[in-house]
Amino acid sequence: MIRIENLIKVYKDVRALDGLNLEVKPGQVYGFLGPNGAGKSTTILSTLGLIFPQEGKIQLFDFEVFADGRFDENQLVEAKKRIGYMPEHATLWDFLTPVQTLDIIADAFGVPKAEREKRIRELLELVNLWDERNRKVGKFSKGMRQRLLLAQALINDPELLILDEPMTGLDPTGIAEFKDIIREQKRAGKTVFFSSHILAHVEEVCDTVGVIVKGRLRVEDSLENIKREFLRKAGYTILIETNVPVDWSSSEWRVTPLGERKYRIVAEEDVREQVHDFVANRGAKILTMQVKEPSLEEIFLKMVE
Ligand SMILES: Nc1ncnc2c1ncn2[C@@H]1O[C@H](COP(=O)(O)OP(=O)(O)OP(=O)(O)O)[C@@H](O)[C@H]1O
Ligand SMILES: [Mg+2]
Repeated sequence: MIRIENLIKVYKDVRALDGLNLEVKPGQVYGFLGPNGAGKSTTILSTLGLIFPQEGKIQLFDFEVFADGRFDENQLVEAKKRIGYMPEHATLWDFLTPVQTLDIIADAFGVPKAEREKRIRELLELVNLWDERNRKVGKFSKGMRQRLLLAQALINDPELLILDEPMTGLDPTGIAEFKDIIREQKRAGKTVFFSSHILAHVEEVCDTVGVIVKGRLRVEDSLENIKREFLRKAGYTILIETNVPVDWSSSEWRVTPLGERKYRIVAEEDVREQVHDFVANRGAKILTMQVKEPSLEEIFLKMVE
């Protein structure tokens, strides 16, 4: 759906994209994660032809929209007909209602008059704004505004949705609601690519996560694999206290004594049960056990460091 190869974008003196590679496959919900200034918006704007990168390739669907330092405008126009986009700093007309807003957008996208009413109703129901359809947008909460912007992005029934920080500024309820809508899009067969600088936004909703740091993709994998890989490298740490000293020489883990009957055990995975058995087989008992599993947030911070 999106394939980016060795993309380079330099703003005056800032190398925002430094050889970015990325691939979003059909049907995926792809979380594009990175700290502030990593190059997320630059990537999205380049993908849509809204800014000009210097080098690399961008493919959307089967169209090569950017290569040899230039956009193919015809291909880009064709590709964009099948894309819905929600910008990072989008504005809404505060004095309009959701119905009026979507009517204008539908008009701009050439949705035939006869279909418009039905389409607007479907979209407002989808983003849970049907009951608020005749209220002025100026009175809306941040969550409601974001959901209306998403409805806007869906007006042309796009196959691919590109959302720049759609959940930033939402409270936990707002985030949960937004994730539900994204899941619904996936069920409907759409591909979703969205950026965020907050790990919690991609949890439980993305099947693939790409982490961008300083204009380069650091990893691209499922969150489970990223976590597993990180644990494999960092190790899984268990702290225990036993009733009598234990001889660990025959164990396969890295064990460091922390006191007379206190130990730190580092393994490649969760070995709590094996540790229990090991200790029991030597006639000892575990008095306390503590697991030091890094949180996803820690993993993310480590990657971004
Ligand atoms: N128009 C511009 N002119 C000059 N530098 C820019 C411009 N836009 C972005 N940059 C710089 O390029 C880098 C990448 O910015 P970008 O907006 O793509 O990051 P981002 O990952 O979207 O960050 P955020 O999470 O803050 O939205 C940053 O160093 C930024 O300051
Ligand atoms: Mg941004």
